[in-house]
Amino acid sequence: MNHRLLILDDDEGILEAYAAILSPKTNAPVVRSSRASARTQAAAAPVLHPVQYEVTYTKTGLEAISAIEQAYAAGLPYAGGFFDVKLGGELDGIDTIRRIKDIDPDLLCVLVTAYQDRSIEDITNVFGATFSDRWDFLNKPFTKAEILQKANNLTANWDRRRREKEYIEKIKAQQEQLIRAERLAAVGTMARGIGHEFGNILLSIMGHADLALQSKDPSQMEEALKLVGKSSERAAIIIRNLQSMVKTEPKREKVDLVLPIKEALELVGHEIKKHAIKVTEHYAPNLPKTVVNRVEMGQVFLNLIINAIHAIGNKGGEIRITADADERNIRIMVADSGSGIAEENITKIFEPLFTTKGNKGSGIGLSVSRKIIENHGGHISVRSEVGKGTVFLVQIPVA
Ligand SMILES: Nc1ncnc2c1ncn2[C@@H]1O[C@H](COP(=O)(O)OP(=O)(O)OP(=O)(O)O)[C@@H](O)[C@H]1O
Ligand SMILES: [Mg+2]
Repeated sequence: MNHRLLILDDDEGILEAYAAILSPKTNAPVVRSSRASARTQAAAAPVLHPVQYEVTYTKTGLEAISAIEQAYAAGLPYAGGFFDVKLGGELDGIDTIRRIKDIDPDLLCVLVTAYQDRSIEDITNVFGATFSDRWDFLNKPFTKAEILQKANNLTANWDRRRREKEYIEKIKAQQEQLIRAERLAAVGTMARGIGHEFGNILLSIMGHADLALQSKDPSQMEEALKLVGKSSERAAIIIRNLQSMVKTEPKREKVDLVLPIKEALELVGHEIKKHAIKVTEHYAPNLPKTVVNRVEMGQVFLNLIINAIHAIGNKGGEIRITADADERNIRIMVADSGSGIAEENITKIFEPLFTTKGNKGSGIGLSVSRKIIENHGGHISVRSEVGKGTVFLVQIPVA
């Protein structure tokens, strides 16, 4: 509890009256320009109030300012002060408060007036609205009860405001920590996403490079190397896109959705061949273009196609890709003749980190895909039958 108070009044008798009320036990109130009479009075006063105030008595504005400056600098600020409005000397009470309110931003002030010196509006005008909850007033002649009650309020308010300030600072710090943690989590998710995506691309680059190395046929070799180049380009685009994603809104453009599907198929062409998978494509004529992030949509189709390849495994099979549109949505279906999804897993496959592939899967592909699709205002759903295959339906609103 801060029980330090400052009194400013140029009238010796009034200072004595304050001392009698606020410093009844300490025989020697600190009267800066001390006079014996103040002490005598104080010594005679009975103990009337359990609160022990540490009071500094000052007679001029400059004395008050210097006391407040020193106390604030020493880390022992006053909770508040009683300031006589009408003062002789260089500064009156108002001028003094005007100066000290900027020295100690927490100091609470009681303006003591002998008569209606200034109206409350006047005072608010003088100090500004931000100061309005830091001052109070008291009319002379005051009673002991009034002084004690004001002193009580001053110190209690000072403590309450200090606690509130600490509380707000604590909350602010917690919020900043939360935002930092969120940002870190986002960076982490992104890093995993990039890793996942680059894993796919590297797979394609290595596969085609392998093919080029083993091939004796120059035209086949050239074809494979071209795909290595394309995959690398795609990696560069993703990096560029990610960089712009960190900085600004992801870039969207009017796109024929068949393009990112074709790109994704190309990237895994090697895997498709290796697993003896037949791909059939059927795209409705005159499919409307739609505004999407092309790289992100490519990522979705790549994830779906790679999952289909995994589901088919080594026994060969079929992947069917179709696209059509109604007046609201473009609908892309990716169907495979693979293992299918067990009923108990069907609700889990879009959850982040859910995988049935052990160390070979991270369980991120579908959760990222769904996020991307939902960011485009679209929807993804699945139908599956164990042993028969799986159909993913992606719907993206027509731009
Ligand atoms: N076409 C599919 N056929 C059968 N199961 C599938 C198919 N697509 C997804 N799944 C199931 O859904 C799970 C989650 O798929 P998801 O793409 O999110 O992760 P993942 O493929 O396991 O790992 P990642 O894609 O991160 O490498 C898979 O582990 C698999 O069990
Ligand atoms: Mg996957």
